[in-house]
Amino acid sequence: MARKVIVDCDPGIDDALALCIALFDPRLEVLAVTAVGGNTSPERATLNVQTIIGQLDPKRWPRVGAASEPDGGLPVDGRYLCGVDGLGGIEFAVAERQHLLPSEKVICDQVRAAPHQVTIVALGPLTNIARAFARDPELPTLVDRVVMMGGTVSGPGNITPAAEFNIYCDPVSARAVFRAHCTKTLVPLDVTNRAVLSYDLFNRLPEENTRIGYFVRQVLPPAFRAHRQNLGLEGIHVHDTVALMSVIHPDLFTTREMAGDVETQGDLTMGMTVFDRRRVPSWRRNMEVAVEMRTEEVVDAIIGDLATAAEYAGPRLADL
Ligand code: BDR
Ligand code: CA
Repeated sequence: MARKVIVDCDPGIDDALALCIALFDPRLEVLAVTAVGGNTSPERATLNVQTIIGQLDPKRWPRVGAASEPDGGLPVDGRYLCGVDGLGGIEFAVAERQHLLPSEKVICDQVRAAPHQVTIVALGPLTNIARAFARDPELPTLVDRVVMMGGTVSGPGNITPAAEFNIYCDPVSARAVFRAHCTKTLVPLDVTNRAVLSYDLFNRLPEENTRIGYFVRQVLPPAFRAHRQNLGLEGIHVHDTVALMSVIHPDLFTTREMAGDVETQGDLTMGMTVFDRRRVPSWRRNMEVAVEMRTEEVVDAIIGDLATAAEYAGPRLADL
């Protein structure tokens, strides 16, 4: 039976790539895609979620949740890697829906409708998840698992020397989710950083006459340019897609139970994830953390799952 998931995301090119797979993967049933501000403003993230779903047009459209501003505002955005609009500056047509429910309400409703069955795959700041848990305090116990892309265990951050982007964007919400009584998996930057997709990826992507092939061939080239210009990398990171792989292919990852929390203050350390790794820890273990992955196999799985998604999504309408 397909695993019920809510994808909470801030597209973002790597979020978009993860959605390409998730929306069509036969092992997943995407109940909802909830937008959150991060790589772009909340409004733009909401629009981008609709753009992606509209471009890919899955047979069963998921619910969509609208993002709103985090309580402290967004301190940064991801335009240096994703472009001003989060999707590489490609002007896709979109039929925007009116009167979307707030993301946190969608999360609450979907989890309540299928208690103990829903995995929340959190690919952006944890604003919506924290708000859903605040709105319905019983919710953490009703979620099957929250899988989060974020934080670092022992490596540097990527938005400050200490902090990873998603956690830095809303550290107070991240702390609330880390401390919530639900089953969690964290896929941190230390691990996601290891997968770098190189330019020869284009030879292995689905053909341009498929919906998926067309979409990814539009949004990935700007990501390659931005990674080269801003990170000096001849390849791209796809943190969110790696996190999704940990849901679809858990056998490719090694996890360890750890005790983690988030620094919510500090001139230099705001948004840093802190783990009690002392010889004799005193913090209670509160999450499973991905510590290793079989990197080459994960990259192959991403490419293979995109091909599967392309089959399920079918050809572009223009080519029918
Ligand atoms: C995370 O930050 C965002 O820029 C990416 O979409 C990913 O979710 C990586 O630190
Ligand atoms: Ca993201």
